[in-house]
Amino acid sequence: MLSDIREVLAGLPEVLPQDRAAHYFQSPTYYPVYTQIAAWLEPHSLLEFGTRLGYSLIALAHGAPDVRRAWWVDNECGVKDSNAKAWRNLTAYYEGVRGTAPPEAAAFTSDWELAPLLAGSQVDLIHIDGEHAYHAVVRELELAYQLAPRCILVDDWCGAPIQEAVKAWARSRNIGFRVVDTCDHGLAVIDLTAGRKVLTPLLASSWRILERVEW
Ligand SMILES: C[S@@+](CC[C@H](N)C(=O)[O-])C[C@H]1O[C@@H](n2cnc3c(N)ncnc32)[C@H](O)[C@@H]1O
Repeated sequence: MLSDIREVLAGLPEVLPQDRAAHYFQSPTYYPVYTQIAAWLEPHSLLEFGTRLGYSLIALAHGAPDVRRAWWVDNECGVKDSNAKAWRNLTAYYEGVRGTAPPEAAAFTSDWELAPLLAGSQVDLIHIDGEHAYHAVVRELELAYQLAPRCILVDDWCGAPIQEAVKAWARSRNIGFRVVDTCDHGLAVIDLTAGRKVLTPLLASSWRILERVEW
């Protein structure tokens, strides 16, 4: 039985005081949704665009029984030295909660730095939550898709540029998706498992769906 990710996050060494009171630390439909999706998908590899202090990356890792590799991209414009702090949180999570060494992991400060290194690789689960601008999200979706993921998550559906980017990219690829109501933010779930059999049927029976998009 998985422990509540909110309790796990509250015990991390690098947490901003204001984050503890914020909805995303308190809500049962924010990081717990990430953890549940990872538990269903059982990814061996994770990639995140926009990691900040690592909360969402750890929420995904918490659900996944066996993550072997994790990468993230963050230019640290949100929190100074956030990549080192995220690394400290990830290590504390694996050593303190899982009782194991953290997976092989690497942080990058730009998509351009990451792209050539991962070219030709496969990554199971990818989360996009970096620059909330149309062109950045489309670029990251396409970069993510080249890595043959089993699922792509895009946070903050509530933002107009995010909606436009996800819809335009999904239409260009003829791919449907669902948006889960994560405490009014909205998380777009692009299920790329064979026949969309792993995640899509479970989403609607577990959470409120804000949008169902098919092309
Ligand atoms: C919303 S926060 C990510 C929160 C994180 N996913 C979580 O839930 O814990 C967005 C992050 O994206 C990073 N960021 C913003 N623009 C970026 C860019 N152009 N390239 C890389 N990282 C960027 C910021 O430094 C910030 O840490």
